[in-house]
Amino acid sequence: MDSFIFQNPTRLIFGQEQVQQQLAKQLKPFGEKVLLVYGGGSIKRNGLYDEVSSILKEEGFIVSELPGVEPNPRLTTVHKGVEICKKEDIDVLLAVGGGSVIDCTKAIAAGAKYDGDAWDLVTKKSPVNDALPFGTILTLAATGSEMNSGSVITNWETHEKYGWGSPLVFPKFSILDPQNTVTVPKDHTVYGIVDMMSHVFEQYFHPQENSYLQEYMCEAVLKSVIEAGPKLVEDLEDVDLRETILYSGTIALNGMLQMGVRGDWASHNIEHAVSAVYDIPHAGGLAIIFPQWMRHNKTLGERKLVNLAVRVWGVDPSGKTDGDIAEEGIQKLEQFWSSLGAPSRLADYNIDDSQLEVMADKAMVNGSFGNFNPLEKSDVLSILRSSL
Ligand code: NZQ
Ligand code: ZN
Repeated sequence: MDSFIFQNPTRLIFGQEQVQQQLAKQLKPFGEKVLLVYGGGSIKRNGLYDEVSSILKEEGFIVSELPGVEPNPRLTTVHKGVEICKKEDIDVLLAVGGGSVIDCTKAIAAGAKYDGDAWDLVTKKSPVNDALPFGTILTLAATGSEMNSGSVITNWETHEKYGWGSPLVFPKFSILDPQNTVTVPKDHTVYGIVDMMSHVFEQYFHPQENSYLQEYMCEAVLKSVIEAGPKLVEDLEDVDLRETILYSGTIALNGMLQMGVRGDWASHNIEHAVSAVYDIPHAGGLAIIFPQWMRHNKTLGERKLVNLAVRVWGVDPSGKTDGDIAEEGIQKLEQFWSSLGAPSRLADYNIDDSQLEVMADKAMVNGSFGNFNPLEKSDVLSILRSSL
């Protein structure tokens, strides 16, 4: 293992009725002028907007609103939010939504305390030196953004989508009520499952040795999702299954699984390049790319792929070579995601080979990447070609 310091300052408030019980109490210490950030209207349709608004009104908060945050949140929306914060002298932000709303809120929080363009923070041209405080009410289990310090922003004018982060943009608190996720439609429920599993895979494949506990913890999260996921897709309103998936998504990317190890993250980088060009759902891209990344790394990753096959997917290893066992595990993963309804080829999004070079160049913008196996442009092209 590498030496490490672990600190996650987000207060996680998990369970039913917690918005009603906790929201005002958690928000009050940060001030009275609130910017409420939300997406394209799901919270208006399912009643959460009314619930949150009436709590804020009853408790005397002065509320400004930024509606319309897009899936794959855009820089233009970050700019709008920063402008409101500066004009209205906002004290604290409240993100109500999925990963996109939370990521956008993180960029607004940091942008509001920065004199230049918030894009400088995303592209790391300038460091994040300060940020407004913010809390979240999560409505979709997927990204882990509710309890991490990462954010992904798209500049649609330049077709660039980058991840960035800072310890200053951990949410101060996040309220997770599984009841608030029951209206997530089937496709986004499936994308969420694919995304959280991919986060586990990214951290499972790392170059550090002596990481028994980290590997078993990753496998435990995967097994929980593999058990609960298909049942949930069959019964989207089952709150107990929603609860398991919600908790799994948070544990998958709140830093717990990567203590002492450095995850790979190449598949995410490639996916961000694909969705920067085609604006496809993040996890749709991952479902296509990750199995191909695993095949590309079958030799280097053989021990871990065999462990995944046997310990997570239940592959019987007797009489088989390690290479065959590894391949069978990858096929089990593909079958699992397909059985839930996830895409498996870029062609499912009508993506052909015409932009492969563009996507590979975007992925390579900071040079070779991937902590487990650093990829060059030829590797990226090969993974993209096998994903067509
Ligand atoms: O916009 P609204 O109307 O709210 O609808 C959303 C959106 O259309 C809908 N939705 C959310 N909660 C709902 C609901 N519909 C019904 N009922 C509810 N309770 O779901 C759609 C997708 O929402 P979005 O927030 O885009 O999904 P997700 O949480 O998967 O976030 C995706 C974004 O997160 C980034 C991705 O790149 C992408 O931009 N990521 C962020 C990470 C992080 N911060 O750590 C890590 C991830 O790997 C990922 O890259
Ligand atoms: Zn992801």
